[in-house]
Amino acid sequence: MSAESTKKIAILPGDGIGKEVIAEARVLLELYRKRGMRLELFDLDLGADRYLRDGTTMPPEALSQIRGSKAVLVGALGDPRVPGNEHARDILFGIRLGCDLYANVRPVKALHDSIVPIRNKRAADVDFVVFRENTEGIYANIGGQLRRGSIDEIAINEDVNTHKGVERIIVAAFEHARRTRKIRVHMADKSNAMRHAHDLWQRVFAEVRTAYPDIDAEHIYIDTLCLRLVQAPEEFQVIVTNNLFGDIVTDLAAALQGGLGMAASANVHWADPEAVALFEPVHGSAPRLAGQDVANPFAAFLTVGMMLAHLGWPDEAKRVESAVALAVDQGKCTPDVGGTLGTKAAAAWVRDEITRSLDGFRSMLAP
Ligand code: NAD
Ligand code: IPM
Ligand code: MN
Repeated sequence: MSAESTKKIAILPGDGIGKEVIAEARVLLELYRKRGMRLELFDLDLGADRYLRDGTTMPPEALSQIRGSKAVLVGALGDPRVPGNEHARDILFGIRLGCDLYANVRPVKALHDSIVPIRNKRAADVDFVVFRENTEGIYANIGGQLRRGSIDEIAINEDVNTHKGVERIIVAAFEHARRTRKIRVHMADKSNAMRHAHDLWQRVFAEVRTAYPDIDAEHIYIDTLCLRLVQAPEEFQVIVTNNLFGDIVTDLAAALQGGLGMAASANVHWADPEAVALFEPVHGSAPRLAGQDVANPFAAFLTVGMMLAHLGWPDEAKRVESAVALAVDQGKCTPDVGGTLGTKAAAAWVRDEITRSLDGFRSMLAP
């Protein structure tokens, strides 16, 4: 582990179970800090509680603080006390768009056979990564409502796709494939129905693939992708798709890896690894689970792993992943993945396992 300078990390637990899982993830980061990783953790008091208290969603100062950091760790945002969840949109999109984090990288890797829900499939069959475009598409929220509230209402959300935006996410997917020695990239769209926007995806994919003759570039319609992910997940290595399809397909894919309690993600400005990046579990605030110590903290732990890899400690990401896999194997986990432990106990077990592993390989952490 080498870290020349102290790395600033903003922590934004958010709402519901986000607060519970990020509290545990924070202790994990503290563990690493105490072991010599040069991390400076600071908290951002943003989310539904703050919004209901004083109306603040995403103040410019907070965005500046985030931009001045190496990473921001977010729990989840969304609270039934805020029916429109305007705070969640301001905060999440405020960071994703405000820092131009155009690549939403969502690994889908099953860590144990027991949590793969498909008959005749094993953990080894589920190991791919989704590159979700994170700044455009229908999420651009361009559109409007006419005659709102009347039976003649018209509501429009435009699907915004730019050459630059499509190209940079497809390039990121191919670059990732090359770096991780994968041989196949699938691009998923709906070009048979959305002729204008997805024709652009088709043309850009055809252009970009010529620079990667070593990689097998396949096109697949998004509906067929949903089918094949369940029938034959082993066919996939790297998938690139737009913002909305990426959101939906990664919840489906999360089911293949044991559920949302196991799904991690990173939001990065792929072309500039020095820029701040946002790390968050794929899951939401699960209001019905909140406050009961039942939420699975492993998605948040695996997300910390992605953050550590991004900051230059790939071995620690592997250590976190192995500890989580062992916890599932031993039943030291929450009920959603077959265990009987609560959030805190499962998290503590994994941290203890990481400590045991670090003690066994002390030299790995030496500067
Ligand atoms: P959700 O992800 O909160 O929950 C979906 C299902 O997965 C529920 O059955 C839930 O109990 C289960 N689940 C999720 N995380 C789990 C965990 N860690 N352990 C065990 N089970 C888990 O999705 P939802 O119910 O559609 O949304 C709830 C709120 O969260 C909404 O306001 C939504 O907008 C928001 N949301 C936020 C984010 C984010 O901030 N990144 C992501 C998704 C949803
Ligand atoms: C996600 C979430 C968000 C999204 C919501 C909360 C706006 O579902 O991060 O997957 O759609 O991007
Ligand atoms: Mn989602």
